[in-house]
Amino acid sequence: MNISWQLLHTLEQTYGDSYYLLHLDAFEANYKEFLEAFRADYPNSNIAYSYKTNYIPKLCQLVNTMGGYAEVVSSMEYDLAVHIGVPSQRIIFNGPYKSEFDLERALLAGSIVNLDSFYEVAMVEAIARRAPGQILTVGLRCNVDLGIENVSRFGFDTSGQMLESAFRTLRRVKNCRVAGLHCHLLTPTRSAESYAFLVKKMLEIAAGLFEDAPPQFIDVGGGFFSKMIPALRKQFPFAIPTFQEYAQAISPLFANTFPGGLGPELLLEPGIAITADTMQFVAKVIDIKTVRSRVIALLSGSIYNIKPTKNTRNLPIRVFHNNDDIKSRYADGIIDLVGYTCMEDDCLYTGYQGHLSVGDYVVFDNVGAYTIVLKPPFISPCPPIISYDANLKDVTVIRHQEKFSHIFSTYVF
Ligand SMILES: Cc1ncc(COP(=O)(O)O)c(C=O)c1O
Repeated sequence: MNISWQLLHTLEQTYGDSYYLLHLDAFEANYKEFLEAFRADYPNSNIAYSYKTNYIPKLCQLVNTMGGYAEVVSSMEYDLAVHIGVPSQRIIFNGPYKSEFDLERALLAGSIVNLDSFYEVAMVEAIARRAPGQILTVGLRCNVDLGIENVSRFGFDTSGQMLESAFRTLRRVKNCRVAGLHCHLLTPTRSAESYAFLVKKMLEIAAGLFEDAPPQFIDVGGGFFSKMIPALRKQFPFAIPTFQEYAQAISPLFANTFPGGLGPELLLEPGIAITADTMQFVAKVIDIKTVRSRVIALLSGSIYNIKPTKNTRNLPIRVFHNNDDIKSRYADGIIDLVGYTCMEDDCLYTGYQGHLSVGDYVVFDNVGAYTIVLKPPFISPCPPIISYDANLKDVTVIRHQEKFSHIFSTYVF
């Protein structure tokens, strides 16, 4: 997208001095590239888009029109999928906490529910008794020992009897079908090798449990890195795999285990991978001051807009200079770009090198994952999200600016 200071300034007149830009075309391209990489070796692959990463309805609708599943982890997200018209059979309900009401609704509607623990097995048994004429489709989340220090809290332990016991219990329920297995990688490096290790284990587990015929699906979860420009990539102390490298680590294992295209559906639940580089955050330089030797530029945004998880990496930025520089408020050198909150650590970018003036705009890239879904209404509500079509010079509002009334409508005055 061709951005200029003038364009950002024009957008400011309508949308305020901070806003997100959403690139739906980039999301669509990521989705297709990711899926094609897996389908090249294993055509029976599909994406179940992780709603929690970024549940902008326009993105979820796009996934639905491209034939993807909705991967939801709460009744709120389930409601969203239903609201935008996702067929219930294309909804996968994951996550550690599901109420009996949520579980029953999803199962009776024909959604796939991946169970995380025994309390859900008991609920499924009860629901099956209440609805003897309905087939309930479930999967089991596998907790695989990846040899890392942190023991994951999710799913059924595959190292002992836990998974098998859940599987056998559910198999005894006449109208319940254990259709597949689920997992999600949680290693810090998210390497292609760790996926290969995990998937090999999953295929072994599936072969051990599903003795007669392969399962309907094996869902290998999300956790894949997004594409990154070198400035971001070099801040990681390890290599960032490409979509193709991830696919090469996973798809051939499926293709070799199930030759002839009769294997289970390979489900992938990317969040970060397909969203991170599809949004930008625009903030304006409000003030510049020097405190002892520290040069500080105050922006009209906060760390919560771009890194609510407070990761310490600098996201890629571009600065668009106001040609009518206010010379007295001009800084050149090493500058910390700080946010509007009262927290000392609200620093959007540490050690920017270059010149900056009041009235410039700073555009942060890679803010599409875990940003708007995690931004708290701390001190200020959320800025609007807009999508700008450079060819048509057309702006579409994706989400209106949050206002006082949105934040306080649930409080009792
Ligand atoms: C089960 C499951 N699937 C998919 C995702 C999406 O992960 P990511 O955004 O890292 O791809 C998560 C994230 O925590 C998850 O827990």
